[in-house]
Amino acid sequence: MPSRATVMRVTISACGTAYYAGLVAKYWLEHIARVPVEIDIASEFRYREAPMPEGGLAVFISQSGETADTLAALRYCKANGQHIASVVNVHTSSIARESDSVLLTLAGPEIGVASTKAFTCQLAALACLAIGIGRARGTISREEESKYVEGLMEVPRLISTLLRDESQFVDLAQQLSQSRDVLYLGRGVSYPLALEGALKLKEISYIHAEGYAAGELKHGPIALIDDNVPVIVVAPEDELFAKTISNMQEVAARGGQLIMISDSDPVAAGCEQAVHISVPKVNPLASPLLYAIPVQLLAYQTAVSRGTDVDQPRNLAKSVTVE
Ligand code: M6R
Repeated sequence: MPSRATVMRVTISACGTAYYAGLVAKYWLEHIARVPVEIDIASEFRYREAPMPEGGLAVFISQSGETADTLAALRYCKANGQHIASVVNVHTSSIARESDSVLLTLAGPEIGVASTKAFTCQLAALACLAIGIGRARGTISREEESKYVEGLMEVPRLISTLLRDESQFVDLAQQLSQSRDVLYLGRGVSYPLALEGALKLKEISYIHAEGYAAGELKHGPIALIDDNVPVIVVAPEDELFAKTISNMQEVAARGGQLIMISDSDPVAAGCEQAVHISVPKVNPLASPLLYAIPVQLLAYQTAVSRGTDVDQPRNLAKSVTVE
């Protein structure tokens, strides 16, 4: 690894769901380790001829470790003197072999085309990376490190709680399965979750879905809202919660059907029109890992309700080894 003094910037590159894990990691690395992060989709990054800083760290995220664009981005960064770290699930893969440091996600084989457990395990590995860099750079204390780690350790129990009763997802999914378009909104670390929710729904149910940063609503997507468009909001009660609620009120005023995935009650929050998917309270660092579950379950149950092939959706391959 480059030394503490020489890490000028972290560059993250990945595709699809792995890219969304990288977007979450950008928030963590900037917030916890106070290191600037550049992130791009690998298929864009590889052709941009981006100038790379000396002593930079380049991070590649890939379940398969064989995604052609991610591998090409890695080779570009290597040729430009970056330290190469990868977050991969397959330890024998090309990306793992060509990396200087490897963080294995240890998710076990992922057979279904849609990335699910790989995503949550990528998040867990990236959270540990951010905490580790934060400690090495002295931006967090040992006590803060312990709090973050405790927050992460709680996640499996909280996920079990969520999985104990899927009935709230089944009912909602039946309604969603009738929709033509669905919008997902989120702010901060929940913005990549909105993107991921939309991707999962598209992939396995073939319903058109878009994810947006909630603050972008007024800059275009609000024009789509009417009483036929479900708007799913990823809204943990964090420091941006009040702003997200205000976006939800804008949706409600235009007749949008709100679904709020949150640890806070919509009525108490001032958004009584929203259907609530209740999520247990969690340390804010760990919220993307926990909120990934309702987002995945909604897509899964919607696909089941429509009778589509959840494991092998049409036109998709598990690993994209060509451009
Ligand atoms: O194997 P990788 O993680 O590099 O794959 C990246 C994407 O192709 C992958 O995440 C894709 O978007 C999934 N089908 C999403 O569910």
